[in-house]
Amino acid sequence: MTPYDILHIENTLKETKIVVYRCDMKRILTGIKPTGVHLGNWMGAIKPSFELLSKYKDEPTEAFFFLADFHALNTCFDPIALKKSIKEVAATWIALGLDTKKHIFYRQSDIPEISELTVILSPFTPKGLLNRAHAYKAFVDKNRELSQSDTVRDLDDGVNMGLFTYPLLMSADILSFQADLVPVGEDNSQHLEIARDIAGKFNRNYKTETLKLPELVVRKGALLPGLDGRKMSASYNNHIPVFLPEKKLRKLIMKMTTDSTPPGETKKKDSNALFSFYSNFASNEQILEMEQKYAKGISWGEVKQEIFELVNEELKEKRDVYNHYVNSEKELEDVFKEGALKARLVSKKVLKEVKDLIF
Ligand code: ADP
Ligand code: TRP
Repeated sequence: MTPYDILHIENTLKETKIVVYRCDMKRILTGIKPTGVHLGNWMGAIKPSFELLSKYKDEPTEAFFFLADFHALNTCFDPIALKKSIKEVAATWIALGLDTKKHIFYRQSDIPEISELTVILSPFTPKGLLNRAHAYKAFVDKNRELSQSDTVRDLDDGVNMGLFTYPLLMSADILSFQADLVPVGEDNSQHLEIARDIAGKFNRNYKTETLKLPELVVRKGALLPGLDGRKMSASYNNHIPVFLPEKKLRKLIMKMTTDSTPPGETKKKDSNALFSFYSNFASNEQILEMEQKYAKGISWGEVKQEIFELVNEELKEKRDVYNHYVNSEKELEDVFKEGALKARLVSKKVLKEVKDLIF
């Protein structure tokens, strides 16, 4: 195995020695927008990050986890709500297992190199590539549909440049750290393709491999459905926050929509939102048992109760940790300061390499 550099830094808050630059180091990186954090984010991004870390536990790995607060700014202009959400998302990561001593945890807005790389990569990003990005296209399609009925609209109605350039900023998030593996929900796979396209274009032009092409990691089970059966998402308002008091969690799960198949009648498991939800949390044996229960006509109420028990079992001991951090602004600020210090050792070095190639 190739040795990797160890850089000594004096001014970190707690440690004096950290690993900063890759050789055979596997770097895992993912981010979540601080616009609330729900069970879908846990299944799609947080859990697979920890699973990857255990998969590679015998190899040198580094984890970069961050709060994509610039991305959140596209939709959240209320500073109080944004601050609150940053605390909630950070406390959730920590309660679910992020180790603030081992993992590098930061706010995107504390890393100026990401913004600079975004500017540098803009000319390497064909506008057509961003025209085809899902979130932007969804807006345009909706506006087109609306303009066919009564209201005449601009096809870009409601689109700001933050939304339009979302995949470009996300590429800079990843490429600034030469990440190898990016665990995200399936809905982000196109963003990873865009990051690879942009990096490839830059590398080909400068005949370099400085920008590492990241690999997408998607967890089995695809996307967790929300209360209405569509993908769980804060923007659909069909989500279940990760840390709710037990009673509220149960109440929300009981609200999940179902069809009207009565108790005692066989239920179809294929493309059934409750079955898919349950499978995300259950072991293989539990999934097989549930399949049999569906065949025997379990009632929807009983399925929901089983979902609640599974989810709650995983969360109940973590609630205290969540409650501690969500109320500890100072402690979280220290974590972010330390995280930014560590993260910037990498992003500064990558940005310097990039600029040396260009200018
Ligand atoms: P939201 O759609 O609620 O705004 P984000 O876009 O902030 O959620 O997603 C953060 C991470 O969680 C991304 O990796 C995303 O792919 C993943 N994710 C979001 N919703 C789901 C879901 N319903 N199932 C699985 N993963 C999801
Ligand atoms: N797009 C991700 C989301 O859906 C958040 C995000 C921003 C991200 N930058 C990233 C994820 C870089 C992984 C890597 O919320």
